[in-house]
Amino acid sequence: MEKKYKKILEKALPLYKKGRVGDVEHIKWLSRIITKYIDKSEIDYDILIPVILLHDVGYSKISRKSNCFDLDIRRLHSEEGAKIAEKILKELNYSEDKINEIKKLILKHDNWAFGDNFANEPVLKIFTNFDFMWSASKKGFGIVRKFMKMDPEEFYEDIIKSQKENEKEGRKWFNKEIENFYKQLMRERKKEFSI
Ligand SMILES: [Fe+2]
Ligand SMILES: [Fe+2]
Repeated sequence: MEKKYKKILEKALPLYKKGRVGDVEHIKWLSRIITKYIDKSEIDYDILIPVILLHDVGYSKISRKSNCFDLDIRRLHSEEGAKIAEKILKELNYSEDKINEIKKLILKHDNWAFGDNFANEPVLKIFTNFDFMWSASKKGFGIVRKFMKMDPEEFYEDIIKSQKENEKEGRKWFNKEIENFYKQLMRERKKEFSI
């Protein structure tokens, strides 16, 4: 990761440690994987990477006992995250334009839960592909499954159900390679848990 992005991560990590269980792993996985599949020439990394690194930082302001699947909590963590992002990026001398764009995207990042398909937001289109896919990754499967209190088979089926919902609401895969990666992760989980 480039130094300028590492500085953001350094400021965000202590907050993630106070925030939702598993989010340190979540953020690290996302930033590692997304940059493998999306090139700088396709999207502005100065927007995408800060969005990844800061999108769930708002959970640091929310009790660990609250349900992160509750729609009010989804809204609240996005609002708090946008405020924290502004503070961190100002400290790092990000331009006002970029800060405003990043804040806007963090505010909207979970709006898929309200039916948004991000058709006009390429950064969120990519971001959501991977934020969703975290549940199918080796670590993410275990972490999110515990939140949902489901057994592996139930959770595997739940991911398939959510992906059907994505299709129905028009949230598309950004490209074929990313879609294939999701399918590969699901095959791995199926094998891992003998489903
Ligand atoms: Fe989120
Ligand atoms: Fe997330």
